[in-house]
Amino acid sequence: MNKEAIFLLIRGGHIIDPSQGIDQIGDLLIAEGKILQAGGAVTPIPSLSVILSKAKNLDASGLVVCPGFIDLHCHLREPGFEDKETIATGTKAAAIGGFATVCCMANTEPPLDTPAAIDWVKQKASKDSLVAVLPIGCITKARKGEELTDMGELAEAGVLAFSDDGNPVASSQLMRRAMEYSRDLGLPIIDHCEDKTLSDNGIINEGQMSAKLGIKGIPAAAEEAMVTRDLILAKQTRARLHIAHASTKDSVELIRRAKEEGISVTAEVTPHHLTLTEERIAGESPNEPFDTNAKVNPPLRTEEDVQALIKGLKDGVIDAIATDHAPHTLADKNCGLELAAFGISGFETALGCLMGLVHQGEISLAQLISKLTCEPAKVIGRNGELGTLKAGAPANITILDPDREWIVYSRNFASKGKNTPYDGYKFKGKVMATISRGKLVYTDDSLVIARSEVTKQSHG
Ligand code: DOR
Repeated sequence: MNKEAIFLLIRGGHIIDPSQGIDQIGDLLIAEGKILQAGGAVTPIPSLSVILSKAKNLDASGLVVCPGFIDLHCHLREPGFEDKETIATGTKAAAIGGFATVCCMANTEPPLDTPAAIDWVKQKASKDSLVAVLPIGCITKARKGEELTDMGELAEAGVLAFSDDGNPVASSQLMRRAMEYSRDLGLPIIDHCEDKTLSDNGIINEGQMSAKLGIKGIPAAAEEAMVTRDLILAKQTRARLHIAHASTKDSVELIRRAKEEGISVTAEVTPHHLTLTEERIAGESPNEPFDTNAKVNPPLRTEEDVQALIKGLKDGVIDAIATDHAPHTLADKNCGLELAAFGISGFETALGCLMGLVHQGEISLAQLISKLTCEPAKVIGRNGELGTLKAGAPANITILDPDREWIVYSRNFASKGKNTPYDGYKFKGKVMATISRGKLVYTDDSLVIARSEVTKQSHG
């Protein structure tokens, strides 16, 4: 894999950059890892001759060229759970999924609750990572919900948000104080909304499936009660609240009303909550009555919830799509449903399953791209720099083939986590190349990147 800052001329692609309202066939020129021109035709004028002589060429006709995807929510598992994933394997999977930037959650061991832990991740990522890794710091020490971290020190160490993801902050008083600090630091709280007294060790969505299968359910209210509390606290404190993995119809309604009221709230939804329902927990054969790969927190919900999430995405109530990439070992999932870990390995299937929504006419391609690029950039206050093809910005670019059909084989994942409910699914729409921070970090085998005409000639 080429890790040099690139000179590249991407010719004749369908350039979609919602941050600038670009949606046209054109060229994109990258020089020294930065975007020089996006859109229109790059003509060999004298001032460009040196750059064009260095630039490799990529014929992108029939392909979509857009800003590199940003994932607001993933679990890279390092330090502490290297059997599930490492920064190296996780970011390789991210690059294959089209993600040029990923924000990693703090539920590692040790957790990311001190500046030293944040520094460690940054150092490790600078050596091992293929894409940009932005760490999220804990809200409370060891994510125990008892004592706040030194949020100011974590901000100085470079966290882009605070979250105890995987755990809620049960104490309202502590969450109020966390919001006050995060407001003063100008960073968002990424909120895992779960009232554990309501979820009460439930396993799947509480509803028809839990009743039919006799499995303990997690009611929608477990999420909505916490969404409600934290919207009230965000209103009072004027903090920036970001709701992680929204999964229910009424969560969407609560967020909609809060936005109408002017509360500073944003929200994300995962690809799996947009494309699967609670029914997916059923296994394919009598020997395997359940598919533990569909066990996730929050749980897959009902068709009505899925439709509300898609509607919320379309009308802007839901700002971003985030994978919640949660890799686990085979042993973590190869057990009974009660014991199996919650989570889905999501980087490598995200675009494929989301393109289904585009092909079914549920959302437009430009809308989908905005939810993976400029909208998440806004949530973390990095718009203008990330999620855009603006001239001068670092080259973070995803190239995709909207019509390429492929089949998911989890055994071939770059991620250590093979835990996907999409194994064997046929998708239409595939990532063909990813450029992160000016470096080509992934190309599909079928993509031809040629030397420039000038170089070819000079080599005969
Ligand atoms: O399904 C999930 N898995 N939900 C979470 O909130 C945490 C995550 C994990 O860390 O495995």
